[in-house]
Amino acid sequence: MTASPATVATAPADRRTASGLGPSPEVPPLDVARLRMDFPILSRRVHDDRALVYLDNAATSQKPTAVLEAMRDYYELHNAAAHRGVHVLAEEATDIYEGARDKVAAFLHAPDRREIVFTKNATESINLVAYALGNAGRLGPGDEILITQMEHHSNLVPWQLLSQRTGATLRWIPVTLAGRLQLDDLDALLTERTRIVAFVHQSNILGTVNPVDVIVRRAREVGALVLLDACQSVPHQPIDVQALDVDFLAFSGHKMCGPTGIGVLWGRYDLLAALPPFLSGGSMIAEVTMEVSTYADPPQRFEAGVPMIAEAAGLGAAVDYLTDIGMPAIAEHERQLTAYALRSLAAVDRLRIIGPATSDDRGGAISFVIDGIHPHDVGQLLDERGVAVRVGHHCVRPVCQLFGVPATTRASFYLYTTPGEIDALVEGVERAKRFFG
Ligand code: ALA
Repeated sequence: MTASPATVATAPADRRTASGLGPSPEVPPLDVARLRMDFPILSRRVHDDRALVYLDNAATSQKPTAVLEAMRDYYELHNAAAHRGVHVLAEEATDIYEGARDKVAAFLHAPDRREIVFTKNATESINLVAYALGNAGRLGPGDEILITQMEHHSNLVPWQLLSQRTGATLRWIPVTLAGRLQLDDLDALLTERTRIVAFVHQSNILGTVNPVDVIVRRAREVGALVLLDACQSVPHQPIDVQALDVDFLAFSGHKMCGPTGIGVLWGRYDLLAALPPFLSGGSMIAEVTMEVSTYADPPQRFEAGVPMIAEAAGLGAAVDYLTDIGMPAIAEHERQLTAYALRSLAAVDRLRIIGPATSDDRGGAISFVIDGIHPHDVGQLLDERGVAVRVGHHCVRPVCQLFGVPATTRASFYLYTTPGEIDALVEGVERAKRFFG
């Protein structure tokens, strides 16, 4: 049994900024103390019985009990191979898997549930588009692919490989030392030769929220496709794929309170229907003979093999959880935290923020370096205080090269982050400075 391919109802668009989305300043504040109780791991003690201060949410988010229970419930009561049986468990597993697709479609305001393709993660979603475009012969010598200098390696390397396979030229929009896209030359970079523009909505290293509308408008003028890497925006702000007006959108479940092992590719149905498969095998076919096969319609065409059903159950529960709390309220909470953190960190002597200095068109991932102290040492000393941050190049080496740093220390926030945790970060940074002199 499969769920019907019915169109999901679209909710009214949320209030948006020029970036195509954004919080409403009028939303009621989050009850953070109460919702922290939904996340068992947040009461963990680490090193010498210190409270855990989890500020590594751009890497992965923590999971509420509702998500853990949905996955456990699936395995305890419903475990079977979805789309592959007529027995009761197989039908229940199919309903759980397809129910998650409905939830994700509604969360993104997608006009058609068949536009939601489940993948392993955002990286696979982007590779799916790159390989399918290549397999379709949609690019060749003389064509161009446009990305930006602030892309995560997952939205850089697949396009490098596609250009190598097809002879198309890879170009990119430069980044300024203020951490913004240098858009003055957009008309020269995005031309009739451009077949696809792939760029990040919110940078995982700089925190920058890019002006989707400006780039989409230019892409439409020249007939280029647009893929948005929304890994760092879908978990944090209301997203409406119709308002954003892009063609493809990729993100992962684990950064939005869901489990690892599941990602999403949203794509316009007509575009998905025109693309050949990426991975092939069971359940993505229409007819098979020993010589040749034909393919199922999307999304099944792109979901070869037994899917990640428990992960879909968890992702569906995460969508319910975030929806109940309200994405506008989450976005506003993070905007206030980010403004507070930027002010607090700006007051630290010898500390340089790598990225925009204010919370305008900026999310809650803040990278910084401290003169004379390696970011890894800062991270180590913060960890001793129970403060978990990420250190390194954050899979965006070109940005580190641009800013002339080997790595950064990055703190990143989510709905359960408190101002007190930001104070703990700043105190930990001051301690690191005293330690290293
Ligand atoms: N892409 C994730 C990060 O930025 C893992 O940390």
